[in-house]
Order: sequence, then C-alpha cells, then structure tokens
Amino acid sequence: MKIVETQDGSHTVYASAFDEHYHSTNGAAQESRHIFINAGLKMCEKTEIRVFEVGFGTGLNAFLALLEAEQSGKKVFYSTIELYPLAAEDIEKLNYPQLTDCHCGQVQNCHCGLDPQSPENYFQKIHAAGWGSRVEITPHFSIEKIKADFTEFDLEENVDVIFFDAFSPEKQPEMWSEKIFAKLYEHCNEGAILTTYCAKGSVRRAMQTAGFAVERLPGPPGKREILRGIKRI
Ligand SMILES: C[S@@+](CC[C@H](N)C(=O)[O-])C[C@H]1O[C@@H](n2cnc3c(N)ncnc32)[C@H](O)[C@@H]1O
Repeated sequence: MKIVETQDGSHTVYASAFDEHYHSTNGAAQESRHIFINAGLKMCEKTEIRVFEVGFGTGLNAFLALLEAEQSGKKVFYSTIELYPLAAEDIEKLNYPQLTDCHCGQVQNCHCGLDPQSPENYFQKIHAAGWGSRVEITPHFSIEKIKADFTEFDLEENVDVIFFDAFSPEKQPEMWSEKIFAKLYEHCNEGAILTTYCAKGSVRRAMQTAGFAVERLPGPPGKREILRGIKRI
C-alpha cells in the first residue's frame, strides 16, 4: 500500500494488488463529497437514513458522511463492507482530519467546527470501531463495519442510500454484475439512491436491468460523468 497526495491535497491509497488508487488522483476528498455526499446522501429527504457502502477502504466516505450528519442534524446509520482492511499504520498516515483548519476541508464555509487535534477526533473513532457490531460515534452517526466478501454477502436490512465504491469493473467485474445490483435493489427502500463514480454503459445497463432508474450526472474534476440510480416504485 502506498499513500499518495491527490490534487486537492487530500491523500489516497494506491493498491498494487489491483493496480488502482482508492480515489481519483484529481482530488480524493473532492471526489467523495461530489459523488457520495452531494449526489447521494444529501438527496435523501428522510431524517433517519440507512447508508450502505461497498468498500470501506480508508474510511473517507464514512468520515464525510459523519460530518454531513453533524451539519444536517439528521441521523445516519452507516453500514460498510470491506474484505481487505487497511493496516492501522497506513490509516494513521492519512491526512483527512488535518486537510485544512477543519474536518470538512471547506475553509471558507467550515461547518464542522471540530478541532482536528482533539481526542474527539471522529476519523480515529470510526477506525477504532470494531468489526461486526454497530458503534455510536456521535448521537447523529453510528457505524457497523462488516469484514466480508461483498459478492457473497446478503444485506439484512433495507437501506436508503448506497455508496457503490468498489474497484473498477476492469479490475473487479464480479462486483458490477446485474446480479449484484439486483441484490442491492431488493434491499432498497422506496426512493433509495445509489451513486457511483463509474459511468460505463455496461454498468448503467446492469443497474437498469436490476430495476434502478438511472441518470448520468456531471462528475467531479477529471471525470465527465457519474451514475445515480433511484428505486422508484
Ligand atoms: C475504491 S476502494 C474504496 C474506497 C473507500 N470507499 C474509501 O472511502 O476509502 C474499493 C474498496 O473495496 C474493497 N474490496 C475489494 N473487493 C472487495 C470484496 N469482494 N468485498 C468487500 N470489499 C472489497 C477494497 O479493499 C477497497 O477498500
């Protein structure tokens, strides 16, 4: 595992086993906010939201979801699956809590008011949470980290928002199949939203065949389009 600084100053990880970065090298935090927080979580109108993430990785998406829950005052029940957890010594090097003066990385409009140096550091708390049970990090945000192979996993509860953040279809075609999207669709509440960075035609068609109404949205810098699927009944 190699830690790499991306163009917005936030880190990502390069996984040599997959020959792929965990995020866009054009800006990791910028990409996660754009695809998963702004196009996904923020579009859900519920006040109690169940989020499921495919690929916990560095915990960046989970951390940004926590910050959004703190800002919106909504309650987020976050579940995430990961087959290859990162080593603690790699996680410690990630600069997400220290991006700027604040956790949210938006100096101009900082909404988190959190001190990155504080022992209350939420990023560390997310990583300190054990695998296999739900842990409350703040009154607005709890997390259940599942250590399992997503291709063999069945969701137990229905969800409202899905962060689909697997490695690319070129590297892991089995994660992007129609069968996988059908399994997720089955566990979506009405109106549930799935977002992903991948805009490939084959992925869009697999999502549509599974039942999602799919739209193409403008991507973050360096990426023309992303996909958002909605379960409309
Ligand atoms: C693109 S990275 C995800 C980045 C992550 N969301 C973040 O915020 O850092 C893809 C992740 O999926 C995980 N993964 C790969 N195959 C998996 C599988 N079969 N089941 C569960 N997780 C898997 C990888 O280990 C990696 O952490």
